[in-house]
Amino acid sequence: MLELSATIDKLCAASVREYINPYELMDWPNELSKEQWFFSPELMSLHGTDLYSSMPESRQKLLSFFETINFFSLNIHGERSLIEGLARRLYKRDNQVLAPYLHHFLDEENKHMIYFGGFCTRYAGKIYAERKLPLQSRQYEPGEEDFLFFAKVLIFEEIVDVYNIRMSADDRLHPLARQINLLHHKDEARHLVFGRQIVERLYEQYSAKWSQETLGQVREYIGDYLKATWSEYYNPDVYRDAGVAEPYDAREAAMESERSRRQRQEISNGCIKFFLKTGILETAPEL
Ligand SMILES: [Fe+2]
Ligand SMILES: [Fe+2]
Repeated sequence: MLELSATIDKLCAASVREYINPYELMDWPNELSKEQWFFSPELMSLHGTDLYSSMPESRQKLLSFFETINFFSLNIHGERSLIEGLARRLYKRDNQVLAPYLHHFLDEENKHMIYFGGFCTRYAGKIYAERKLPLQSRQYEPGEEDFLFFAKVLIFEEIVDVYNIRMSADDRLHPLARQINLLHHKDEARHLVFGRQIVERLYEQYSAKWSQETLGQVREYIGDYLKATWSEYYNPDVYRDAGVAEPYDAREAAMESERSRRQRQEISNGCIKFFLKTGILETAPEL
């Protein structure tokens, strides 16, 4: 507990120092030409497929624009449910120590949606619909629901952050796309420190009292959530908008390619290692 409150103090101080006003900071051009990269080609979901190789570069660039709209949209959906869950936990009796940081967390996630949403609505006129199915609620053992909430947040943010880091350093991308990735990464670096600590602490605090059945369910849920998170990166609406004739076939080919599987594994590596090291998972999920 001591270690967590020291971390919270440090993270709060950093959030105050790095406090931004997204309305002043962002410079939005009236229009964006789609003849440029918005998403790193190697990270695009169709990269490595025959379909992708057969596209002229102008089409690949158009695809990179819609991949960006998808990436920003899935962040908005994740952040919306994150904000809901954080707000519900604010000033709860058993975790008052978290409150000062939850205020920053809420504030920062709201700002992320302002710039993600600002980009999508200005330049695409839309946000893609959410495809992740809500998982059924059930009876939870003590601490289990909080643990699963923060574990899901962590998985989601760990994967996003790998993309943010790589794309913020990719000078082929349009400066606005790079800036958004960089701004997001700066806040997420703190959220990840908090996330790893709270997930580990909740697990240590409660898991010994859970039944074997609950423990098994928790582990299965984490693996399923990782897979569900990844499936959102392959969005047929993106392919349709980029002019792909058979968007569902494209999705299947991309998801099933060996290259994509390796890439999912590589990008999830840091996150999976954390769950294995802490004993939360016993085996790495197949992605
Ligand atoms: Fe965020
Ligand atoms: Fe975050």
